[in-house]
Amino acid sequence: MDLIERLDAIERDALASLGGTLDADALERWRLAVLGRRGSLAEAMKGVAVLAPSDRPRAGERANAAKQSLEAAYFSCLSSVKASARAHALEAERIDVTLPARARPTGSLHPVTMIRREVEQAFARLGFTSVEGPEVEWDHYNFTLLNIPPDHPARDTQDSFYVQGGTGEGGEMLLRTQTSPVQIRTMLAHKPPIRIIAPGRTYRNEATDASHEAMFTQVEGLCIDKNVTLADLRGTLTVVARALFGPHSEIRFRCGYFPFVEPGAEIDMTCHLCHGSGCRVCKRTGWIELGGAGMVHPRVLANVGIDPDEYSGWAFGCGLERFAMLRYGIEDIRLFYENDVRFLQQFA
Ligand code: PHE
Repeated sequence: MDLIERLDAIERDALASLGGTLDADALERWRLAVLGRRGSLAEAMKGVAVLAPSDRPRAGERANAAKQSLEAAYFSCLSSVKASARAHALEAERIDVTLPARARPTGSLHPVTMIRREVEQAFARLGFTSVEGPEVEWDHYNFTLLNIPPDHPARDTQDSFYVQGGTGEGGEMLLRTQTSPVQIRTMLAHKPPIRIIAPGRTYRNEATDASHEAMFTQVEGLCIDKNVTLADLRGTLTVVARALFGPHSEIRFRCGYFPFVEPGAEIDMTCHLCHGSGCRVCKRTGWIELGGAGMVHPRVLANVGIDPDEYSGWAFGCGLERFAMLRYGIEDIRLFYENDVRFLQQFA
């Protein structure tokens, strides 16, 4: 067979075997076998060089024509292979945009955190700074400097969680039972005038029920300046109660006893649900108890080096869970710390 015929045959057979190839691997094998450096076309082309010079031009032309037609066939096949691979991938990765999306759970603020922030904002508008103190405290700050003597029942191990082996300069170590030690720390660190609130966790070793938890949150308030009176406390608490519970809120004091205030008071607020006429939440009294308060005891001022003849001040302490329970209509304090997302999600 002469070279021209061989080239004809190579081209015909190669085109025939290419027909219908839509697979990238098969196409690559075809390319190597036909157009590769050791492929059939290259082999045949070697034959051109050994022809008689007069036969070479024709054979060379035929060889080039075969090469061009085979390359063109190759590239057209390559582009359909690519197109079909892309079509395949698209089909395999097809997504049904009409399917309902999977819900992504998002966190939300804890109701006590929300109330805490509202309280902080209301007091900030009145010039009060929010400060924090340690939750593990010395009894010196939690009790002694607050005029709670060593034999006072509040120190009973029944009420306080003591830290084993925790004794030092400040006496025994315990989980603070109230935020009042932050009053002491603030007055020891700063000269009057003082206007602070101190929100934070407190701990009491008591049986739990719908209104008592071993861990709860208080907010302390302290105002020390010249000529500060109980009327200032009532005015301040009225503004804050109205910010939190609505413009009808009123504050009243009942006599109460706390060793670190004199006089001492229990704080009541008009019921935000019935506005004082009496309902289930306020047990038909029209009033709701918010916490304790009073004028800082002169002995406490003296304990922290503030002259009680020059300065006076008030303090209060309220439970933030109680605020949250009133605001959101929650009936059991234990719900706050069970971490049931169904409960927590309601405040999102
Ligand atoms: N610390 C008191 C308590 O936990 C509340 C209180 C604070 C009372 C400040 C008076 C003044 O019960």
